[in-house]
Amino acid sequence: MSGKKYGKVDDEVLRRLIDELGKENVKADLVERYAYSTDASLFSSLPDVVVTPKNTDQVVEVLRIASEKNIPITPRGGGTGLCGGAVPLHGGILVDLSGMNRILEVDLDNLCVTVEAGITPEMLNKHLAKHGFFFPPSPGSKKMCTVGGMIATNAGGMHAVKYGVTRNFVLGLKAVIPPGEVLSLGGKVLKRCLGYDLIQLIIGSEGTLGIVTEATLRILPLPEKSAVVVAYFRDCSTAAKVVNAVLRRVIPSAIEVLDEKSIEAVNRYVPSLNLPQAGAALYFEIDGSEQEVEGQLKVIVDACKMHGGETEWTSNPNEKERLLAGREIVGGAIMNIDKRRVRVYEAEDVCVPLAQLPHFIEEVHRISERYGIPVCIYGHAGDGNCHSGIMIDPTSREEWEKMRMMSREIYELAVKLGGNISGEHGIGLLRAEYMESIHGPSLRIMKEIKKAFDPQGILNPGKMSIS
Ligand code: LAC
Ligand code: ZN
Repeated sequence: MSGKKYGKVDDEVLRRLIDELGKENVKADLVERYAYSTDASLFSSLPDVVVTPKNTDQVVEVLRIASEKNIPITPRGGGTGLCGGAVPLHGGILVDLSGMNRILEVDLDNLCVTVEAGITPEMLNKHLAKHGFFFPPSPGSKKMCTVGGMIATNAGGMHAVKYGVTRNFVLGLKAVIPPGEVLSLGGKVLKRCLGYDLIQLIIGSEGTLGIVTEATLRILPLPEKSAVVVAYFRDCSTAAKVVNAVLRRVIPSAIEVLDEKSIEAVNRYVPSLNLPQAGAALYFEIDGSEQEVEGQLKVIVDACKMHGGETEWTSNPNEKERLLAGREIVGGAIMNIDKRRVRVYEAEDVCVPLAQLPHFIEEVHRISERYGIPVCIYGHAGDGNCHSGIMIDPTSREEWEKMRMMSREIYELAVKLGGNISGEHGIGLLRAEYMESIHGPSLRIMKEIKKAFDPQGILNPGKMSIS
């Protein structure tokens, strides 16, 4: 499929798109196209036209036109992806689904909610809270990303350690596939033994198999109580011992870690937080019944203190926010650690088996020293998903080169330790070159699956080394 010639978005295509979607939902001027040429990655490529459908039928019509004219079509949610998944590499039609953001049904008797793909998880949770429920997956971008984007990338986030990731909550899907067919998959039940599971195949397929327009999601009752513990340790391996000791007894809803450089970055960014300048910080979130929270709090605080941790905890909602602030802002903070350096998103999302986490962090610090390039490490200590921020001088060709070599080493290290190259951000363009080596013969099967969904290869082409 690669190297193929695609059709053009000409006047006829534009007129047909306008006929189906209305003038206000078809944008072909350069300013709009430019605004949609990138996501939160370093990649960019101009779409020929941007469409903002308002319902599944309109998405069907867009796909019909694209199939007939052989035009590439790239779906986009909140544009918060870090791997270029929503960048229209071959131009064509960019489908912005963020305007399809309605909650279609809240079904408390069946513990599920049906939503359009463009709703943000934060908006969904605000609404569900009124009913005493919540949708647990909680990516760092929860205020801006969309449920559709979370499904496309199988987003994870802080709560994976207790609740799982996006794929654990999708009961049903509506996906549009070429040449304009709607697949209605699953429903409101938790169990299905019905042959190949196309829902799970579409989750994580990054818009290469179909455009998800609606989803039925499992929801859970809001826990009665929650609490936060923050503790500061001598080094990351001591922190890892605490994580291990805690997880042998209780499962908190989040366990997050910041390394020494990340703590330093937070303190420079917001000096008023004044975090103790330790070798590592751990953030625990706990939820459950009053009794469960009390019990878990004791286990965690005892484990932190036993390992020499300077420990603070609270169950007061305002205090919780203050205690968690360091973790919440660390992504922005490390961008500012040194004005001459920028963070490059490469090797930023590896996942290793829990027991390997301390070794992994130590090795990444060694790689950083060896290349003379600072790396801040933070992430989801409860599930082994680590975000390494490699900080380079963008004007130095040599540092770009070094960054690429460091990334390769970090990926290889993660795989050697039994982990993988992306826990929750995805492949997109950023990691496409690794698909062959990480999947071997399975990549051939993926390519065959792709052809079954999208024989012309028009859905998000150029991503994941699939087409
Ligand atoms: C986070 C994003 C980077 O955990 O995944 O903050
Ligand atoms: Zn993360």
